[in-house]
Amino acid sequence: MVKAARRARAKAVAPFSKFKVGAAVETARGRVYLGCNIENASYGLTLCAERVAIFKAVSEGERRFKRIAVVADTGRLTAPCGACRQIIWEFCGDCEVIMSNLKGKVAVHRMKELLPVPFDKRQL
Ligand code: THU
Repeated sequence: MVKAARRARAKAVAPFSKFKVGAAVETARGRVYLGCNIENASYGLTLCAERVAIFKAVSEGERRFKRIAVVADTGRLTAPCGACRQIIWEFCGDCEVIMSNLKGKVAVHRMKELLPVPFDKRQL
């Protein structure tokens, strides 16, 4: 998963921040979808790697996921931003979140830890 996310990172479009991120999400039946961050001159339209990976999978009909990996070139491992946590929770539930950097440092968390008090369809 880390290798796949690293491969995805190579496709990042980050001319503004120069901060390249790659993500890989694995479906319940073992398919892996890749995503990279895609920035835009109107910065707010930027898409994070995690959301690109998940939306690619969802748009192909996937609905059940077991884990997601995120790779960036940082000493302190890069965690999904708040917006991505919401999306990951919504589509992947309490899945495994693997974070890694280019030096091979890896940490594994669960979504429950990253978003302990979520807003979701149970509130609606
Ligand atoms: N970014 C991601 O793609 N995923 C993260 O987990 C953190 C942030 C992107 C968004 C933006 O293109 C750049 O990293 C700097 O924030």
